[in-house]
Amino acid sequence: MNFERLIIQGGYALEGQVKLNGAKNSALVLMAASVLGKQDIIVLENVPRLADIEVMADVLRSLGAKVHFTDKNTLEIDPRNIDKYSAPYELVTKMRASFFVLGPLLARMGRAEVALPGGCAIGSRPVDIHLKGLEAMGAQIEIEHGNVIAKVDKLVGAEIYLNFPSVGATENIMMAACLAEGTTRIYNVAREPEIEDLANFLIKMGAKITGAGSDIITIEGVESLRQPVHYSVMSDRIEAGTFMIGAAMTRGTLRLEHAPVASLDSLIAKMREANVLIDIIDDHTLEVRGRHPILATHVRTLPHPGFPTDMQAQFAAMMAIADGTSSITETVFENRFMYADEMQRMGANIRVEGKTAIISGVPRLSGAPVQGTDLRAAAALVLTGLVAEGETSVSNLFYLDRGYECFEQRLASLGARICRVSVKTEKQEAVSLA
Ligand code: UD1
Repeated sequence: MNFERLIIQGGYALEGQVKLNGAKNSALVLMAASVLGKQDIIVLENVPRLADIEVMADVLRSLGAKVHFTDKNTLEIDPRNIDKYSAPYELVTKMRASFFVLGPLLARMGRAEVALPGGCAIGSRPVDIHLKGLEAMGAQIEIEHGNVIAKVDKLVGAEIYLNFPSVGATENIMMAACLAEGTTRIYNVAREPEIEDLANFLIKMGAKITGAGSDIITIEGVESLRQPVHYSVMSDRIEAGTFMIGAAMTRGTLRLEHAPVASLDSLIAKMREANVLIDIIDDHTLEVRGRHPILATHVRTLPHPGFPTDMQAQFAAMMAIADGTSSITETVFENRFMYADEMQRMGANIRVEGKTAIISGVPRLSGAPVQGTDLRAAAALVLTGLVAEGETSVSNLFYLDRGYECFEQRLASLGARICRVSVKTEKQEAVSLA
């Protein structure tokens, strides 16, 4: 149970420099990919310290790997003694990305049992595309007692077409195909930057992969992945985007360092359309300057290089104070507007009609108690609190802590009035903020 909440006094601009952390979604899949290595220790640098990373570490430990941080953001994984093929239900249901071990486990052990992850806060999220791809490579798959049970003597290369460019399915199939016999070609794959990061990591381990970043990936199977690997996780584009929107909303100026600039194209385009000044300094640095007015802008989420669904809620927060009426259409997940009710409590004018949120910008929002309903919704509510008049308290921090390392400390160091309080000390600390 999490009894903590963030208390925010709105009205202070974000100013200064922020250095971005490693990407959660990339780190998680690289950790899963380490299951493929039988002969060497893997060192991952730039791993963010997040609740989700701890869950994946526990998944790997439950399989027999040794996993520990050797310093703040360096994770050492010793997968050599992995001897179990079953990922426990309690961990998989805690975090959907645990399902990413299915492909690597099957390729390594010839057998894998992973609980079906089920739905989550943002929708039903089936895994049919993952399973279809593994079956095409010869796996026999059954669902029993809520578990996916996959077996194979030897995976064989196949031609696989994905009905939808699912990020997780692309990753699961890619990892399994590394140790398959022969060549696998996957069509209509996800083109998210994290896919390229995974391919680069696997290639360093000795895999033969071409095409990552395009919509066809070709993998030539190898006998084993044996190279010792030292790899630095790419920077987090969603964390970058969240700070960018924060600067724009508070009319501050932020310089982002270690930013994955090339992966932010659609967000940069849409923010410029909304009248935000964005100066690209080099491949890893950009400066964002918020100014008045923010202009209403229409957005539709799509697989990369389209506008990312993981930035949808934060963009909506910005549109809540824009000049005019905007529309935000969510096409990737079915249930990603749960923040709308919470933002309305702060005075936002949002109407959800099916897959679209219609947002009429208002000149001022007022602080209120609100709760995070999923990871990005929680971040969006914090951003809303930064511009709302008076005090906002955001609870359900469990979600926020899954994806943002030291979020409130970093916002506070940029000028925000924000602190975390527990129920016991709440009264006391809130007073000290005033
Ligand atoms: C990943 C990211 C998540 C991001 C999402 C889309 C991680 C840990 N998470 O999630 O932050 O929001 O990509 O960019 O990397 N689908 C099916 N069948 C399948 C698989 C997916 O129907 O077998 C559907 C899903 O229900 C969803 C859509 O495809 O509607 C996109 O899902 P997917 O791309 O697989 O997202 P994840 O890999 O789960």
